[in-house]
Amino acid sequence: MNPRLKDMEYAVRGEVPIRAEEIAAEMEACAASGQDHPFNFSSLLRCNIGNPQSVGQPPITYYRQVLSLVDSPSLLQKSSSWMFRRGTQIPSDVIERARSFSSSGSTGAYSHSQGLASVRRDVCDFIEARDGGPECDISNIFLLNGASAGITSVFTALLANPKDAVMVPVPQYPIYSALITLLGGKMIPYYLDEENDWGLSVEELQRAIGEARKKGQRPRALVMINPGNPTGQVLSEETLRMVARFCAKEKLLFLADEVYQENVYLPGSRFVSARKIAHELEQTSAGAERVELVSFHSTSKGLIGECGRRGGYMEFWNIDPQVHAQLYKLQSSQLCPNLDGQVMTGLMVRPPKPGEPSYRLFEEESSRIFGSLQRKAAALTARLNEVDGVTCNAAAGAMYAFPRIELPRKAIEDAEAKGLAPDLMYCLSLLEATGIVTVPGTGFGQRPGQWHFRITFLPEEKELARALDAFRDHHEAFVARYAD
Ligand SMILES: Cc1ncc(COP(=O)(O)O)c(C=O)c1O
Repeated sequence: MNPRLKDMEYAVRGEVPIRAEEIAAEMEACAASGQDHPFNFSSLLRCNIGNPQSVGQPPITYYRQVLSLVDSPSLLQKSSSWMFRRGTQIPSDVIERARSFSSSGSTGAYSHSQGLASVRRDVCDFIEARDGGPECDISNIFLLNGASAGITSVFTALLANPKDAVMVPVPQYPIYSALITLLGGKMIPYYLDEENDWGLSVEELQRAIGEARKKGQRPRALVMINPGNPTGQVLSEETLRMVARFCAKEKLLFLADEVYQENVYLPGSRFVSARKIAHELEQTSAGAERVELVSFHSTSKGLIGECGRRGGYMEFWNIDPQVHAQLYKLQSSQLCPNLDGQVMTGLMVRPPKPGEPSYRLFEEESSRIFGSLQRKAAALTARLNEVDGVTCNAAAGAMYAFPRIELPRKAIEDAEAKGLAPDLMYCLSLLEATGIVTVPGTGFGQRPGQWHFRITFLPEEKELARALDAFRDHHEAFVARYAD
């Protein structure tokens, strides 16, 4: 067994969710045997993972209609006459779209290792329209089994030596620390500034890289998550430019995790891609400040939430052709990304347009999901801030709040005596008392001596409001239990 696999940690599915599964099994067993279960809640509220459809977000009709027809050639063949005759409402643009996917091949067959050329062309059109140019080349697009697969490939290529190190924001989405542990590299933490809406400064980046170099590490890349997970911040253009310049100067590969680019709720906040900024920087510096960049996007997030579909893409920008060739080889060793995920990626980047038959319903469903996420983001952070000893920055984007909790000294001592991180003990206690599943801040990283937890705002609005009442009551009881 690889000892680095044993050391690898992934808190999003860690101790608290594992205990939640045990509770769920116990509740089911009690129900099956007609007994009352011993918990004070009727069901779990899974706020531990950004998995929208697992907590009730409905799939968007257009996507599922196209996917169904693409996966069922016999239905597609009959679609125009058969379905309409029986009154099934399959809009003509759905049928056309499904036909156009099917003409690129069967979803049961392997595709090109980078994914279907037609989908990659649509990805390029999407990127160019989003950024107002520059031109995107389909050879630089790799379709993926979720962004996770692309991140794994790039890290596999990048980390060759125990001294190879990657700058990762703290708090971070734990795939980064997990992969660095697994592949035997080093993580260079750079801290996001909680007092400043989880922003970041060049001084902090310089401190982090300077300390790593003093320890003999070789910084290779910098990860940026925008909008942030678990922190929910949306970075300004100015910050992005600062990071891009830093990467150019320090010769770091810039890894831009932009899976939440559609999830921006706060008025005045706007997503700007790292690619757009990298391009502008190169233009204004006449090529002197040139950034090597890989950007990631996913079908799991946004308003789509098709996490189970495993779709997404990465785009290479200024990547050396020899590196490109090695990554192509790595991707081809996996044969190809799954075809339903590729179709889903194609649908994400080219949804129905105004005037097309599916547009109205698509727009209605998307707006409903967006409006609900926006209201829940604001309500969650406002309600958390009402609780004594809890402070939380606005969730400008993504799907999470990352509140800071003041824990009584005696609670910290009790946790230490039990061999638990204090925030893990807190989240376990919250779970046992209320059924709310969260992830302790320890799993994402935080400044020493500070405690947080991550909570999603994905559950349905009324359920979330009820959970926040239960959270407040539990927090007050927890603090009272450990009062001096
Ligand atoms: C910041 C971030 N990057 C990447 C991923 C992985 O997404 P995917 O489902 O596309 O693999 C997630 C999933 O939650 C995430 O939050």
